[in-house]
Amino acid sequence: MSEPFYITTAISYPNGRPHIGHAYESIATDVMARFQRARGRDVRMITGTDEHGLKMVQTARAAGRETLDFATEMADHFKAMAAKLNISYDKFVRTSEPSHHKASQALWNAMKANGDLYLDRYEGWYSVRDEAFYDESELTDGEGGVRLSPQGTPVEWTAEETWFFALSKYQDKLLALYESNPDFIRPESRRNEVLRFVEGGLKDLSVSRTSFDWGVQVPDSDGHVMYVWVDALTAYLSGIGYPDTDGDFAKYWPANIHMIGKDIVRFHTVYWPAFLMSANLPLPSQIFGHGFLLNRGEKMSKSLGNVVDPMDLADQFGVDQMRYYLLREVSFGQDGTYSPEAIVRTANADLANSFGNLAQRSLSMIFKNLDGTLSNDYEVHADDEALLADIFTMAREQLPTAFDELAFSVGIEDWIRSVFASNQYVDTQAPWGLRKTDHERMRAVLMTLFKAVRALAIAIRPVVPASADKLLDQMGIDADARDYAALADDQWFDKLIASGCKIGQPVPIFPRLDLPEGAEGVGQT
Ligand code: MSP
Repeated sequence: MSEPFYITTAISYPNGRPHIGHAYESIATDVMARFQRARGRDVRMITGTDEHGLKMVQTARAAGRETLDFATEMADHFKAMAAKLNISYDKFVRTSEPSHHKASQALWNAMKANGDLYLDRYEGWYSVRDEAFYDESELTDGEGGVRLSPQGTPVEWTAEETWFFALSKYQDKLLALYESNPDFIRPESRRNEVLRFVEGGLKDLSVSRTSFDWGVQVPDSDGHVMYVWVDALTAYLSGIGYPDTDGDFAKYWPANIHMIGKDIVRFHTVYWPAFLMSANLPLPSQIFGHGFLLNRGEKMSKSLGNVVDPMDLADQFGVDQMRYYLLREVSFGQDGTYSPEAIVRTANADLANSFGNLAQRSLSMIFKNLDGTLSNDYEVHADDEALLADIFTMAREQLPTAFDELAFSVGIEDWIRSVFASNQYVDTQAPWGLRKTDHERMRAVLMTLFKAVRALAIAIRPVVPASADKLLDQMGIDADARDYAALADDQWFDKLIASGCKIGQPVPIFPRLDLPEGAEGVGQT
C-alpha cells in the first residue's frame, strides 16, 4: 500500500472569473501532486470555491443575480480553468454544498464541546473585502477620511452580537507548534512574520455574523451564520469526507501541504491550527505561502485593466509553455513577474530550441538512419556513460530533492542543464557525420540519446505533462512506465526492445512561438 499524500490549493472566491494568480497556485499544486504520484505516493488533491460571506452577496447583487446562481456560474469558470490547465485534482469543493455545511457544523460542535465558543458582543473595525476585523493599531488613513486595513481595504466600525472563538487560549500552544515543527510554516520569511504576530498576543476571534444569512448556519443559534473563514478552512476536511472520520478522511488527514498565497498565511497558520487543536484533530504538516504573481512587475487589478485571463494565455502560448514558464522563472515562495514576451522567450529557448529540438533530432535520426529500430547491442564509450550518469543524477536525485522542497525553479534549472549537456553531446558526437564513416558508433550515440531523452521527459513530466506524454508515446514508452520506479528500473531498455518497439516519423512537441505583436524589445527582464 503506497503512502498517502494530501495536498490542497486555497479555495478561491468566485466573485469574479479566475485570474493568473489563481492559475499559478493551481499549477504549482498540480506539479507537486503529479510529482508525488510519480514517486509512488497515493495522492489526493483538493481545490474549490469559497462561496459564502458578505462580499459574495454584494457582488452578486451588483450583477443583479441570485447569490447561488452567480456563484455557480463563477465556480464553473474555475472548473473550466482547472480542466484547461490540466490540473489533476480529485475533488472540487464548493462551500455552498450541503455536505460542506454538515462538515462545518460538525467542526463547530467539536470546538464548542471543547468549551472554546462563547456568545458576546463585538465592536471593531471590519473590512468587508477581507472578511476580517482589524485592530486600531493596524489601520492607516486613506483618502476622504476612510480608514484602511493592512491590506489597503476600507474598514468600518461595526457592532454586533457574535460567537467568539477562544483564540487567546491557544497562543502558547501555537508558539510551541512553530517551535517544535520549524517546517510548519514555509518559507522562512512567512514563518517569522507569523511568529512576531502570535508573540504580540492573540485576541479571541469573532466567528459568527448576524447581518446576513448567506453562509453556514451556526448550530442551535438562530440568525447566526459562521464567519466565512471558519467554513472556508473546513473545506480541507469536507473535501475528504469529514465528519465521516473513516474512509478518505482516515486515509488522507492530516494534509501534507496546504498551498496558499502570502496574503492568507495568518488564517492558515494561526486560526486553522487553533480550530483543529480545539476540535482534537491532527494538524497539517505544512503551510506553504507562495508569492504573488505580478503583471510586468505591477499588481493586477481591475482598475488598472491589467488582469490577465489564464485561459487566453493558455490559448495563445500553450498550457505546458505557461506551466513551465511560471515554475521555471519564479523562485517559488517569492513574488514573480510575467509578461507574454517573457513566456515566449523562455518557451522558445528551453522547450522549443533545446529540449524539443534534442528530442526531434534524436528520434528523427533513429527513424531515418536506423529504420526506427532500437538495439542494446553496441559498444559504450566513456562519453555516453558520462552523459547518462549526469542525467540520472539529475533525474533521480537533484530534481526530486528540489521538488520535495517545493524549490521548483531549482529543480528545473538542474533539468535544463542536463538538456544543454545532451545537446552539447549531440554536437560533439555529430552522429550525422558518423552515418557513413562509422555506422556502429552512430547507433551507439543514437541509443544513448534515446535513453537521455526518455529520462529527461520523465523528469520534467510533472511540469509539462501533456507534452512529455506526447513525446513518450512516440518513443513507445508504456503509460505506466513514466514514473520514478521506471527511472530506477535498469531493465527498461531491454524490455522495450523485447516488446518490438519501433520509432516512427517523429512529430515536434514544442512549436516555436512568435512574439506577440508589438512586443519586440519590450520587457527584457
Ligand atoms: N477564499 C480565500 C481562501 C480560502 S482558503 C480556505 C481566498 N480566495 S482568493 O480567491 O482571493 O485567492 C485564492 C488564492 O489565490 C489564494 O491563495 C491567494 O493568495 C492566491 N492569489 C490571489 N492573487 C494572486 C496573485 N496575484 N498571485 C499569486 N497568487 C494569488 O483568499
